[in-house]
Amino acid sequence: IKKIGVFTSGGDSPGMNAAIRAVVRSALYYNLEVVGIRRGYEGMILGEFIPMDRKSVGNIIQRGGTVLRTARSPEFRTKEGRQEAYKQLKAQNIDALVAIGGDGTFTGAKIFGEEFDFPILGLPGTIDNDLFGTDFTIGYDTSINNVVEAIDRIRDTAESHSRLFVVEVMGRDCGLIALRSGIGVGAESIFIPETKTDMEAVMHRLEIGRQDKMSKILIVAEGEGESGGAMEISEKLKKRFPHYDIRVSILGHIQRGGKPTCMDRVLASRLGVAAVESLMEGRRNEMVGLLNGKIAFTPFDHAIKHHVEINKDLFKIVDILSL
Ligand code: F6P
Repeated sequence: IKKIGVFTSGGDSPGMNAAIRAVVRSALYYNLEVVGIRRGYEGMILGEFIPMDRKSVGNIIQRGGTVLRTARSPEFRTKEGRQEAYKQLKAQNIDALVAIGGDGTFTGAKIFGEEFDFPILGLPGTIDNDLFGTDFTIGYDTSINNVVEAIDRIRDTAESHSRLFVVEVMGRDCGLIALRSGIGVGAESIFIPETKTDMEAVMHRLEIGRQDKMSKILIVAEGEGESGGAMEISEKLKKRFPHYDIRVSILGHIQRGGKPTCMDRVLASRLGVAAVESLMEGRRNEMVGLLNGKIAFTPFDHAIKHHVEINKDLFKIVDILSL
């Protein structure tokens, strides 16, 4: 391998810049050339390449978002689109790729890698933490800290007005943002897509819980469809508890922006270096993650297919502590 391309794709996540920096600087350290590809697969198809040097990734480790920008590319889903991307890579003499993103990114990487026999390694960059083969994804720690900070603020106003808040957090198919941040803010209940929520049990807990509690926070992952989402949950609660003063707050994209935490910067740096070293050793078509503190490799199709198991102990903690 002589020349590596690096890109970010799908939803951005805090720490992606630290990952780009790590890939670029380690490639240069090992005397490889390195090119940044703008706007993910979309930019690959359109030939948006920028040569990278040590300076080009200076002063970005602390920045949220991605300096390479990102996109979701419908064209790359077509054979013609991937063919065009391959042509562009060949014209640039790029002979390996590091893809930073989530399940959509890795689905594309797997198909492309097999179709053109092209070496690709992936770094898990998503706030959802929904990839199998890594304890944490790059961006997850920052996003749960963003959520905790936002809900602490909500708690102040909820407490002042004796209100119940239903707070919706991100997580299309995965409740890990809701679960961990819920524990972090002392939520009364957490609704996630992976487990069936017994609305009756939630209501019962509110009835038997401390009545002198000034504020109550319920957290709903956006992907939790069964209970109908934050609005519908609040309507159900209003019917049962007409005396409650209830508000809904949807946190949205503030969860995804801002400075990455130190944990995310370190994770991104470790994985970025490991990706370059592993490409040089001949590894391909895998995601590089961190399991129990050690670098671990997971084939793309495993990383995206196996949904991360929810640790039931975390739920139990909520039950024990929130009454
Ligand atoms: O995958 C990351 C994520 O933030 C999900 O939690 C969320 O459902 C989705 O992206 C939102 O995507 P977009 O920013 O394209 O609306």
